[in-house]
Amino acid sequence: MTKSALITGVNGQDGAYLAQHLLSLGYRVIGGMRRSSTPNFWRLDELGITRQIEFVPLDVSDASNCTDIVRRYKPTEVYNLAAQSFVEASFHQPYYTLEADGSGPLNLLESIRVASPESRFYQASTSELYGKVQEIPQTESTPFYPRSPYAAAKLYGHWITVNHREAYGMHASSGILFNHESPLRGPEFVTRKITMTLASIAHGHTDCLMLGNINAKRDWGFAGDYVKGMYLMLQQSSPGDFVLATNETHTVREFATIAASHMGIDLIWDGEGLKEIGVDRKTGATVVKIDERFFRPSEVDLLLGNPRKANAAFGWKPSTSFGELVEMMAKADYDRVARGVLQ
Ligand code: NAP
Ligand code: GDD
Repeated sequence: MTKSALITGVNGQDGAYLAQHLLSLGYRVIGGMRRSSTPNFWRLDELGITRQIEFVPLDVSDASNCTDIVRRYKPTEVYNLAAQSFVEASFHQPYYTLEADGSGPLNLLESIRVASPESRFYQASTSELYGKVQEIPQTESTPFYPRSPYAAAKLYGHWITVNHREAYGMHASSGILFNHESPLRGPEFVTRKITMTLASIAHGHTDCLMLGNINAKRDWGFAGDYVKGMYLMLQQSSPGDFVLATNETHTVREFATIAASHMGIDLIWDGEGLKEIGVDRKTGATVVKIDERFFRPSEVDLLLGNPRKANAAFGWKPSTSFGELVEMMAKADYDRVARGVLQ
């Protein structure tokens, strides 16, 4: 029998790659998208899969909407990727973030419990839960210490997933995913902001890239690898919590330096703190400046994950190195600017 998957947030970065992966495995993909005045299909279009998805209007903060859709389709698997996913925005919109990222998973879990108890459930948890890290590297047993309204809301999403698994015997898994990026990454996240802006500088359209805390360290992998891990979690006979990460960490400064090198910019750094600048060694032009506006009220300084459990359970490991990821994103944006189609 054909398997079906409901993906919430199907038009986001992970939703697009996951839909592509499940379609390649023969799944019927039901794509949940919240209503907007101008529906946004650019990622699905870029992957060439828009027409293969059955779209349904689904806002995860609306409990009755969730129950209607789950009852109607009774999907084999439900992947909850929908979220207000930008940490910075959660400081400005904490209540909405709580609705989407906290109530959202609860609404879906309750919908499955009452209307489709055989459906398996994936919750998009996050390394942001570790926040002010209590252990290096972080694993499934590292205590959480959230540092933003986003992380606090996701903490509820994580524990309510564990609760429904333990209380009702549901096949509900939580993927604690470290940062994963791609050419389909949203433009406000630091990696894509860097590659888009540097590409624009390299083509002579922009002068300068403004960044915040360039000393922050992240464990960055390729999103295409991570969605395969989500799928594998739901194929296991028992549900659980799994870290997906590369076990490597790099600063924002390193990401920018390598991205620049793929655009013909030889970036060197000078000065300290808010006065630090990134200069193109060849031209002497200042191409990166620090701007206080991009610092967060409370920061996550360092993330480094160990995916040993996922590797032992289902053989997951990342296939794309940090250097390959930066190159892939830099080249994609350089080409997009050249073609005049920068998203
Ligand atoms: P993304 O590109 O921002 O996609 C989020 C998706 O959620 C978008 O399709 C968005 O729709 C949708 N959405 C937002 N609020 C919604 C609501 N109330 N109801 C229904 N849909 C809603 O994020 P991503 O990078 O793909 O991440 C996917 C999930 O993994 C998120 O839950 C994120 O928090 C989590 N996560 C991501 C990472 C990472 O590094 N990428 C790491 C750990 C966890 P619009 O297009 O209308 O905004
Ligand atoms: N966005 C942004 N813009 N971040 C900047 C900037 C800037 O100009 N300058 C420095 N940073 C720093 C941030 O302070 C943060 O420490 C780091 O770059 C990464 O920021 P983001 O790319 O916005 O990602 P994030 O780590 O906060 O959150 C992402 O990863 C989480 C998993 O750890 C998101 O995808 C979350 O949804 C996800 O849960």
